[in-house]
Amino acid sequence: MSEDAMPEAINPVADLAPRPDAQMASVDEFDLMRPDLFHGDYHVDLFKRLRDEAPVISQDVEDLGRVWHVTRFEDIMAVDTNHADFSSDGSIVATDQEEDFPLPMFIAMDPPKHDQQRREVSGVVAPRNLASMEALIRQRCRKILSELPRGETFNWVDLVSIELTTQMLATLFDFPFEDRRKLTRWSDVATADEQSGLVESEDARRAELIECLTYFTELWNQRVNAPPANDLISMLAHGESTKNMDPMEYLGNLILLIVGGNDTTRNSISGGVRFLNENPDEFAKLKANPSLIPNMVPEIIRYQTPLAYMRRTTTRPVEIAGRSIPEGERILMWYVSGNRDERAIQNPDAFLIDRARSRQHLSFGFGIHRCMGNRLAEMQLRILWEEILAQFDRVELVGEPEYVNSNFVKGYTSLPVVVFDR
Ligand code: HEM
Repeated sequence: MSEDAMPEAINPVADLAPRPDAQMASVDEFDLMRPDLFHGDYHVDLFKRLRDEAPVISQDVEDLGRVWHVTRFEDIMAVDTNHADFSSDGSIVATDQEEDFPLPMFIAMDPPKHDQQRREVSGVVAPRNLASMEALIRQRCRKILSELPRGETFNWVDLVSIELTTQMLATLFDFPFEDRRKLTRWSDVATADEQSGLVESEDARRAELIECLTYFTELWNQRVNAPPANDLISMLAHGESTKNMDPMEYLGNLILLIVGGNDTTRNSISGGVRFLNENPDEFAKLKANPSLIPNMVPEIIRYQTPLAYMRRTTTRPVEIAGRSIPEGERILMWYVSGNRDERAIQNPDAFLIDRARSRQHLSFGFGIHRCMGNRLAEMQLRILWEEILAQFDRVELVGEPEYVNSNFVKGYTSLPVVVFDR
C-alpha cells in the first residue's frame, strides 16, 4: 500500500471517550455497546480477555438496563440451540422494540409462529432455486467487474459489494430493477440510529421506513391478485401464515429479508478483499490454487462475522458456564468472539483460506433461527471470487477502510482499491 495514496483517517466518533486499553482496563470497564466497537481490530483483544477472565459477565448499560455477555463458542452454541429457555420474542438486538413503532418479524419470534412464517419464504433459497440463479449471478459479477474503472482509485463497497447484493435482493423480491438502490437505502436506514449519521432523527428514519412500506404495498397488491410465483413478496402474499399480516408485520418481515440478505453479504464481500490484502501469502495460495475458493468463502465469513451478536431473553432462571441468570434477562451471544475462541477453533486469529473445517463458525448462528440465506450468501461469494480471479491480476487496497458505525452490523462504508487486469 503506498503511503501517498492513504487518505487522512476520518473518525466519525471522535467525541467519544477514549477506548479502554485491553491491557489495562478491568473487564467490566469494557463498553461493548459503543458504536465504534468495530472500527479497526480493537475489539479482538477485549473479547479475548473476556473469554479468558469472564466468559459470562453482566453489565448495567445506561438507558438500557442489564445485559449479559456470552463470549465463548460452546456457551454461545448452548444458548443458540435452546430456544425454549432463550427466547427471540420481541427483539434480537440489545435494545427492545420501540413500543410506538413495533416491527414484528419472524427472526424475533418463537415457535410456532416463527416456524410457520419461515416456512412460507424459505423456498426462495431452496437448492433448486439456488441452482437456477447461478448463471444469472455469474453474468452479473462479470458485468460489474468488467465495468469497474481501471487505473484509478474507487470505493469497492459501493461499486461491487453493494451493487451485487442489491441486484440479488431485487431478484429475490422481483423488485423493479431500476429502483434497486432504494433497497440499499432502506437496508441502511433500518439498522441506523442517530449516531450513525445516516438519518437526521428517529422521526426521519420512521418516515423513510413508511415510504418503504408504501412502495412494497403496491407490489403486494399486484402479486396477491396474480398466481403464486417464486419471489418473496408473492410467497408472503399467498402464504397461509403471512397473507393476513398487518402492515407493520409486513414491514418488519420486509426489513428482515432486506437487511438479512444485504448488509451481511455485502460486508463479507468487502472483508474478503481486505483480508487477502492483509495476508499476501494467502492471496498467493489462492492464485496458485483457485479450487480453494469454496473453502475460503466460509473462512471470510468467519473472519468478518458480519453480525457481531444476536440477543435472546431468558424465559426462566438458567445457568450458563456456572453463572446463574434470572428470568427475563437480556443475553448477547457475541458471535464475533466465539469465532475467535481458541477452545473451539485452532489458531483462530489467523486468516487461512485452506483451514480445515472452515464451515465450523458461528457467523450464521445455529438452531431454529440459523441463517436462512447461508447457502445463497456462500454461492454469491464463491462466484464473485471465481470471476475476480478470472478478470484481475489483483485488487489492491490503497487506503484505510472506513467502518459502519454500529456495534451490531460489522462492516465497511468504504474500501479504496485499484484493480489490475490479468
Ligand atoms: C454472509 C452473509 C450472511 C450472514 C453472516 C448472515 C447471518 C445471519 C444470522 C447471524 C442470523 C441469525 C441466526 C440466529 O439467530 O441463530 C441470520 C438469520 C437470517 N438470515 Fe442471514 N446472514 C447472511 C446472509 C443472508 C441472506 C443472503 C439472506 C437472504 C435470504 C438471509 C436471510 C436471513 C433470514 C430470513 C434470517 C432469519 C432466520 C430465522 O429467524 O429463522 N441471510 N442470518
